[in-house]
Amino acid sequence: MSEKNKILVIGCNGQIGTVLTNTLSKKYGRDNVIGSDIAKPTEPTNFIFEACSVLDKDLLLSIIKKYNITDVYLLAAYLSAKGENNISKAWSLNMDGLLNILNFAKDKLIQKIFWPSSIAVFGPTTPKVNVEQNTIMEPTTIYGVSKLAGESLCNYYYKKFGVDVRSLRYPGLIGWQSMPGGGTTDYAVDIFHEAIKNRKYTCFLSPDRTLPMMYMADAIKATIGIMTAPIEKIKIRTSYNISAFHFSPEELATKIELYFPEFKINYSPDKRDLLASSWPNSIDDQGARNDWGWSPNYDFNKMVDDIMLNLKKKYNQ
Ligand code: SER
Repeated sequence: MSEKNKILVIGCNGQIGTVLTNTLSKKYGRDNVIGSDIAKPTEPTNFIFEACSVLDKDLLLSIIKKYNITDVYLLAAYLSAKGENNISKAWSLNMDGLLNILNFAKDKLIQKIFWPSSIAVFGPTTPKVNVEQNTIMEPTTIYGVSKLAGESLCNYYYKKFGVDVRSLRYPGLIGWQSMPGGGTTDYAVDIFHEAIKNRKYTCFLSPDRTLPMMYMADAIKATIGIMTAPIEKIKIRTSYNISAFHFSPEELATKIELYFPEFKINYSPDKRDLLASSWPNSIDDQGARNDWGWSPNYDFNKMVDDIMLNLKKKYNQ
């Protein structure tokens, strides 16, 4: 990134935004990173904050001009579970927000975009194991439908207007610094907090519901990795499969029991279990590995160890 590059992270208060904005600020300097969200962050930040909705095109444009923004990370979205209760709002936030940013790049107001897709682009007709980059994609959530349409939109803007938009299909993301909101894979974060605080957890997915997952540190590594890769290495302009490991709630509970033998898990699967049942168990990410050198640093065990270390400190245990 040259001295002139300025970053805008839209959705800086969210699960990924909280960690990404902080990491980018450490890497590029406070004055080069602007975070925006609809509400002010509750804690002091190491970046410049601007309150703005991604749907407010005029305000966004004024922020882009004020700071001479070059790179936008667009993280604001309705996730899978929340989206099912707010179909129109989910479509509008997920699609109109993306279209606004793509149009800024088309008009050369910004240079580069990161926009995340998700394993939710896959559906019940997709193979379950080691899902390849190009496969059957018939999503059954509005979130997945919007992500699949968004992937096509990104590819279209790249092909038609040369917009440098880069994307990853995130698996379920698990971190200790921030809480997720409205997703189906959220259980895998909640369970750690409940285990440490109360030694018990009621899981809203079935015990054997295996899903692809990744530690937040690796999601951030992949995100910055794809954004800093030389342009000629980015060969896929829909969205790249990325993968780290996969596990079921039962397998995660067994790991947690190694720390807290008295830990008790109950299962009360709800509507989210049905959403999760439409997604694959595991993902093949050869494309990202071959094209721009992606590889994760954390396996399942290393992630659990790191989360436990940090959360025990946080809760003074
Ligand atoms: N973590 C997301 C969700 O559960 C999937 O990308 O909605």
